[in-house]
Amino acid sequence: MNGAIFYATRYGSTAQYADWISAATGIPAFDVSNADADPSDYDFVVIGAPVIYHKLAIRNWVRQKMPSFETRPVVFFTVAGAPAGSKLDGWIANSLPSALIQRMNHFALRGRQNPKDLSCFDRMMLIIGGLKNRDRVAGREELEGFDYMDKAGIEPIVKAIQQLQLREVAANNSH
Ligand SMILES: Cc1cc2nc3c(=O)[nH]c(=O)nc-3n(C[C@H](O)[C@H](O)[C@H](O)COP(=O)(O)O)c2cc1C
Repeated sequence: MNGAIFYATRYGSTAQYADWISAATGIPAFDVSNADADPSDYDFVVIGAPVIYHKLAIRNWVRQKMPSFETRPVVFFTVAGAPAGSKLDGWIANSLPSALIQRMNHFALRGRQNPKDLSCFDRMMLIIGGLKNRDRVAGREELEGFDYMDKAGIEPIVKAIQQLQLREVAANNSH
């Protein structure tokens, strides 16, 4: 089957993961802010999104495009400061339709945040959030930044995609 990666990114780390996955699997990667990207052209979709202010930055695109990939396999990767766990699960639940959450294959990656790259607004918001955060490790990361970018983290995602690439197109999807 043929697939493609659709991602959103604010400061480039989700784009970096999408490029690594694209290079490892040979499937194209599209920034969803590019209007040409159409999931209905593919047998399966890989969706990548950063967590920004407790929400997935791709949620509006997903709601708009979901009818075009409703019957197709979905691999989903999130990029966040937080690791996999209940906080991340809650942000996903607040961002995506539950029907999609139940059927997608989700992988949690951790990204990068460099205070020097941030817009004034984001810098201010993260300083306020960092001072108020009762989780002091997360609070310090909001204030000082972090870099968890790890190319090896894509390996399980690449495996999941390779399995889909080997699958035959289902009869009712064939052209
Ligand atoms: C404005 C802003 C808000 C963020 N909010 C969260 C958050 O709520 N939870 C979290 O775990 N990480 C949060 N992060 C960390 C991002 O998920 C992380 O920096 C990610 O790598 C950003 O992806 P991008 O470079 O593709 O935009 C935030 C980062 C920024 C810049």
